[in-house]
Amino acid sequence: MLTHDYTYTNLLDRSVNNAWTVEDCYQGRDFDFTKSFLPERIAGVRDIACLNDDERRKLNQIRGNSYCHIFGFVEEYIVPMVLANAGRDIYGDETRLWSLLRFAEEELKHQELMRRACEQFENGFGSHCGLIAGREAVADVVLGKSPLAALLLTSMIEWFTQLHYVEHVRDSEELDGLFRDILRFHWIDESRHARLDTLLIDEVAADLTPDERERAVDQLLELGGAVDGLLAQQLELDIEALAVSAERSFSDPEKSEIRHAQQRAYRWTFLVSGLEHPKFARIVGELTEAGPGKITAAAQALST
Ligand SMILES: [Fe+2]
Ligand SMILES: [Fe+2]
Repeated sequence: MLTHDYTYTNLLDRSVNNAWTVEDCYQGRDFDFTKSFLPERIAGVRDIACLNDDERRKLNQIRGNSYCHIFGFVEEYIVPMVLANAGRDIYGDETRLWSLLRFAEEELKHQELMRRACEQFENGFGSHCGLIAGREAVADVVLGKSPLAALLLTSMIEWFTQLHYVEHVRDSEELDGLFRDILRFHWIDESRHARLDTLLIDEVAADLTPDERERAVDQLLELGGAVDGLLAQQLELDIEALAVSAERSFSDPEKSEIRHAQQRAYRWTFLVSGLEHPKFARIVGELTEAGPGKITAAAQALST
């Protein structure tokens, strides 16, 4: 159904040959808080007029921390989702099973990678930064949708993870070195996971009617709406954290300027950059008739 040349054999070889540990990434290093962590395309702090340069850098770092937290957060559901897909053919193709078990194991490793980033951030930043709670509840919501909807959400996330690193971080030498490496190591695995998602989507979609596939896109967009709600909660925590760190209070117009800029940045980062990703758009286009129009409209609505 989907156009690709990915195979479990090839992806398993790449996983085994490019294996890394969390310690390979950190190597005993700490963050350099004199530097920005995220590229401007993700952080969206440059044009906030009510902040000075120091405060923009602090907000960039706060966003770096929440970027790691939200990844650990949204990936919580991927482990049980991948294991459920692996279990559909537990005595069948062993290469498929081994690939998918490594996929699940790598996501557990990513959660450790991201958790450690948040711990080191908390120890080094100088003041506490709030992070949204409720990982398991969100995982339950995602896994309560159809298997195809959960796979489409995963595919979208794994394609945008790559885009963030390759197009916005890899060549940005002005950013903190450890933070860049966290995203680089994550990308090494995600570049394979996005292909495994494609293989799984192909398998799952083959058993569905056209209506069921259309419905999965609707459910994906419902999940996107839930993600948007989480981002809005995190944004308020970020504004509070910035006020504490910068030792100032923001007036209502200042808060709304920060909120407006950050809502755009958060939405681009975690929703629009995935909905508009050409690889993801092609998958939706090959699965459904109406899906491409719906995801384009959703991306446009989130970009205003
Ligand atoms: Fe991951
Ligand atoms: Fe992944």
